[in-house]
Amino acid sequence: MRNRYIDLIKQTYYFPQDGFNVVDNYLQFHNINLKELIDEYGTPLKISYLPKIANNIERARKWFHDAFENVGYNGNYHYCYCTKSSHFSFVMEEVLRNGAHLETSSGYDIDLIRHLHQKGLINKKIRVICNGYKPKNYIEKIKKLIHDGFKNVIPVMDNMDELSSYLDIGNDEIGFGLRIATEEEPNYQFYTSRLGIRYEDIIPFYVEKIKPNPQFHLRMLHFFIDSGIKDTAYYWNELMKCLNVYAELKKLSPGLAAINIGGGLPIRTSLGNRFDYAYVIEEVVTKIANFCDEAGVEHPNIYTEFGNFTVGESGAVIFEVIGEKKQNDSELWYMIDGSLMTTLPDVWGMNQRFILLPINNWHHEYHRTNIGGLSCDVGDYYNSEVDINQVYMPKTDGTESQYIGFFHTGAYQDSISGYGGTKHCLIPAPKHLVISTNDLGETKHELFADQQQPDEMLRILGYK
Ligand SMILES: Cc1ncc(COP(=O)(O)O)c(C=O)c1O
Repeated sequence: MRNRYIDLIKQTYYFPQDGFNVVDNYLQFHNINLKELIDEYGTPLKISYLPKIANNIERARKWFHDAFENVGYNGNYHYCYCTKSSHFSFVMEEVLRNGAHLETSSGYDIDLIRHLHQKGLINKKIRVICNGYKPKNYIEKIKKLIHDGFKNVIPVMDNMDELSSYLDIGNDEIGFGLRIATEEEPNYQFYTSRLGIRYEDIIPFYVEKIKPNPQFHLRMLHFFIDSGIKDTAYYWNELMKCLNVYAELKKLSPGLAAINIGGGLPIRTSLGNRFDYAYVIEEVVTKIANFCDEAGVEHPNIYTEFGNFTVGESGAVIFEVIGEKKQNDSELWYMIDGSLMTTLPDVWGMNQRFILLPINNWHHEYHRTNIGGLSCDVGDYYNSEVDINQVYMPKTDGTESQYIGFFHTGAYQDSISGYGGTKHCLIPAPKHLVISTNDLGETKHELFADQQQPDEMLRILGYK
């Protein structure tokens, strides 16, 4: 028989592959037997697998290191973690254990940094890149952080008005970054990003407002393409425009020594993803090196702020199929014990795809299904994968419940859905399990949060 689910996967993709394997017809995620976790903790179950965070930080560092060697690059590479992709303490601690620096987007991030410092998890030399359009309280907290001796805090100016808020810094000195407002991809609703300063304003702004102030120093040029780092003419074109500005600025401002290419390194959202990380990163490094050599300026230090890449592949959510509905001759629904809208809001909000696989019944025949969430909303569904625009699942035979997992869901989903708050149709947040390894490489599970309880919801809603 060649129409089993496992045959479909093996014929469509290279399988097994990094992080995914099937043993005795049960799916393993990084060699973890997911069925055992389901038996112990139940569903719906959210998993954070921390070793993947360390692994991805290491991989990125290696790609840059290798590219630097191959290209003969003279600058340094600094890996920063974009905190907004997941603020959980266990994520931050893992990131910091792996020597990453931080990128912030709000004043509350600065409180978080202070807390980490009090706990002794960071020292005042940590590099903190402060991005975003900054309300007053964010700027005040940044200034205080600098005043308190955090030596490598770089506020990246989002707009020219921001500068005036730093005029009252007493005797302190500030190293700034300037964010370039990049052009958006042609299919976007806007021509130019709302974040950052227009290309043509950057040089006059530096000359008129930053250079004359002896307490202000320009340290970094920041450039972030929202659609990510990709081998496309659009991406290389934007990078070149940024390098043009960098070279011009560097001649005026010798203290400028860093270029920050932001986040946007993709993750696997399908078993078929074949992004050539080493190649693309070497291309980025080569282009920066060649441009600077021709312009006669030193190679800048390169900063990245990978959020999704750091934490995305560490996450998974597992549901049980609690019922099947056939609504016409061709549409079959697998109804799950949770909501896609509230657990994985990017599925609903931006048509984001994740790796979706059954946990069991890999030896069963497969058929086409739609995955239906528990909320009453028409948008609470998942029915297409990156490569095939359809979802296939094993047929069930009533002997064992069907479980399914969405993988690589570790970035942004919790912050966007409002972790722990009340959700659409009062669907409770799932149990949350954190998996780590100790120094001996042994796996440890810790229940970080139980499934949300009715009392908690009633309290939030003012009934208690
Ligand atoms: C300035 C900045 N840096 C980094 C990131 C992280 O991007 P990603 O999660 O795609 O790596 C973002 C995300 O929006 C961002 O706005």
